[in-house]
Amino acid sequence: MRITVIGCGYLGTTHAAAMAELGHEVLGLEKDPAKRALLADGRVPFYEPGLGELLARHVASGQLRFSESYAEAAAFGEIHFLCVGTPQQAAGLGADLAQVDGAIEGLAPHLDRPTLVVGKSTVPVGTAQRLSETLTELAPGGAEVLLAWNPEFLREGYAVEDTVHPDRIVLGVTDPRAETLLRGFYGPMIDAGTPVVVTDYATAELVKVAANAFLATKISFINAMAEVCEATDADVLDLADAIGYDVRIGRRFLNAGIGFGGGCLPKDIRAFVHRAGELGVEDAMTFLRHVDDVNLRMRERVVQVAQAMIAGPTAAGGEASLVGSRIAVWGAAFKPDSDDVRDSPALSVAGQLHLRGAEVVVYDPQASGTAQSAFPTLTYADSAVEACHGADLVLHLTEWREFREIGPADLDVVVRRRQIFDGRNCLDLDAWRAAGWTARAVGRR
Ligand code: UGA
Repeated sequence: MRITVIGCGYLGTTHAAAMAELGHEVLGLEKDPAKRALLADGRVPFYEPGLGELLARHVASGQLRFSESYAEAAAFGEIHFLCVGTPQQAAGLGADLAQVDGAIEGLAPHLDRPTLVVGKSTVPVGTAQRLSETLTELAPGGAEVLLAWNPEFLREGYAVEDTVHPDRIVLGVTDPRAETLLRGFYGPMIDAGTPVVVTDYATAELVKVAANAFLATKISFINAMAEVCEATDADVLDLADAIGYDVRIGRRFLNAGIGFGGGCLPKDIRAFVHRAGELGVEDAMTFLRHVDDVNLRMRERVVQVAQAMIAGPTAAGGEASLVGSRIAVWGAAFKPDSDDVRDSPALSVAGQLHLRGAEVVVYDPQASGTAQSAFPTLTYADSAVEACHGADLVLHLTEWREFREIGPADLDVVVRRRQIFDGRNCLDLDAWRAAGWTARAVGRR
């Protein structure tokens, strides 16, 4: 089919390239000229494993093109996928829908024949109904222009795999023609066994935020358990393994550490709480505020542990000075295999330590560039070992594979003090301790 993808960020670029891979002809709409030029040249403006090769291949074959013109998109596409961002409002907890509204208002006046617009962006419940009314009002094609809501569940770092092999396909529709068209479009995936849930707009919108809220809750649950483990000399890794064997609970997303970040989980749970308030069901969502609180507290706790490791225990409530100390931070991205530093716990911790007087040297295999733009006052090293020169403490804050391959022997003569803190619970603490290092981690003895 001939499709358009409106908004070429993580979601849009991946959807565009993956749908070209499935054999569709794709026109991507991107209003940022610099991004558009890169994409048209077959280059991805961010780091995502496997995506560059896919994009380059389909740009070269002509199956995937980019444009800025809504008129061209309307003339080209049988289905239009809406993939623009819905960030947190600058002054509030709700979602900023300016890009979604802008895209519908830009596209609708050109839709003069029967067509389908498919929303994939994460939006507050109720948005799809409102957008479908706007489409009917503004599109010359009127009621022949249909809207469906088809949320996306891809994870950064696995974006291509998640798009080509999704766990499920959710279709929020009000017209059977939309369902038929989308079942045809996703035919190869459905034939391969991907479950399909056909539902209404509101449920489809809620499925997405409910899924992210559940994942965030799982992470904050295990992080809250980590605090209890620390207070009782218990071990959160053993605890997570043991409860995770219960298939009703499951081990995934039970990794205690410095908490969740990124462009999705934090802003989605806040937007959900905000929307619940508008709908008069705020009390039902109060627990999500605690999920957010536990998550943010993890960052604060790491800062306190770092202070204690460098300056020793202080009187209750007192803050140890970090002036004159040097801290190596391994990782800046909000998670490995990404260069995304939006709401990154690692950078947030690095920034707070810097503000308290420490010299902080950050190394990330992919995110140093994006981190430098966001936090220019930190120092950036070219390698994990270089970051540790003269360090009083090494903080492992984003679990890139290469950090697990570094052992005490690599750093013994590099650091000033042999101290390491594992904020992601994946280093071998016993090995570091056996080599004479002080090694601590979240929720562990
Ligand atoms: C998340 C969801 O997992 C996707 O399903 C969803 O499509 C996406 O948001 C979105 O809304 O677009 P993503 O933001 O790429 O995907 O990242 P996750 O893999 O969910 O990780 C989020 C954060 O949680 C990271 O900072 C990660 O380090 C942290 N995390 C994850 C933990 O602290 N512990 C865990 O056990 C798992």
